[in-house]
This record gives sequence, C-alpha cells and structure tokens, in this order.
Amino acid sequence: MKNLVLIGFRGTGKSTLSQELSQRLRRKRISTDEVATERAGMSISDFVSQHGWAEFRRIEAECIAALRGSENLIIDSGGGVVENPENMSFLGENSVIVWVHASLEDVLKRLMGNVHDAQRPLLSQGDFRTDITENYIRREPMYKRYAAFTVNTSTHTIEECCAAIEKIL
Ligand code: S3P
Repeated sequence: MKNLVLIGFRGTGKSTLSQELSQRLRRKRISTDEVATERAGMSISDFVSQHGWAEFRRIEAECIAALRGSENLIIDSGGGVVENPENMSFLGENSVIVWVHASLEDVLKRLMGNVHDAQRPLLSQGDFRTDITENYIRREPMYKRYAAFTVNTSTHTIEECCAAIEKIL
C-alpha cells in the first residue's frame, strides 16, 4: 500500500491529523521532524542556531531519502520539505500526497502561543508575524503544486479531515 504524506505549513495540524490517522488506520506514523531531531541530537531550534538552516535542510533531506522504498506509512513532513524538489520527488515515488491547509489567520493564532517552540525557529531575522506571513504566502503555490488532494483544518474539524483522507485512500 502507498504511503500517505501530509505536507503543509507549520501550525496547520499535520501532526494531530497524522497521529489520529495512524490510530484509526493502524498504520505506522513517521514524523520527519522527529527523525531529524534524533539525527541532530538536539532540538531543531538549537541545531539551527548552531549550524544554520542549510544544514538542517541537509539532514531533513537525508531523513527523507532514507524513507525511499517504504510503504504503508503515514508521513508527517516538516513544513519546509517543499523547499527541496528532490525531497518531493522521493516522497512522491510511492505516496499519496495530501496538503493540510489552514488560513493564515488561523496559523498565526495557533503559533502565537508557541513563538519560542524549540522545533519551530523562525525562518528569517524578521519579527514573528512578518516571518510567518511571508513564508506562508511564498510556500502556498508549492504545497498546491505537489499535493494531489487538500484538506482544510480552518473550515473542517480534525474528525472531518480524517474522514476525508480515509475516503481518498
Ligand atoms: C519548518 C517547519 C517545522 C520544522 C522546522 C522547519 C519550516 O515543521 O521542520 O522548524 O520550514 O516551516 P512543522 O511544519 O511540523 O512545524
């Protein structure tokens, strides 16, 4: 059976959805952030402040390459996997890719309380709102391009999104 890959911006609900789907479908869940954190031996925030984003992207790409040939997994991918076309070509080899979408307003609201989240350092030097807004807008077309299906966690509950994904599968 093909993997299910969830892509989408941070704060859209990929982790919650993937955990729920993993239980419902009895399929193993892999989070690329969790694997990258293990490989890095420290939080993403610490790793990025010591080694920079380019090095994090390199580790993330290694984790994704290591998933080649896998099947039947639910893959919860980091929001930035779409930045590297090779990631997407590997992820797309044996997968159904679903874009987990939410409005910018909701993403800002959901992330606001977690500005210092150890797994989500800001991507630029800008302030929180500018960083999230600019990257959200820049990445929207990328998620859209790579996904075969979309679920929207602003307009639908997690329960509804899970049901929609089950139907897709
Ligand atoms: C990132 C999103 C994070 C994590 C890292 C980079 C991004 O994953 O991979 O902080 O580039 O937007 P989530 O989307 O799971 O928060």
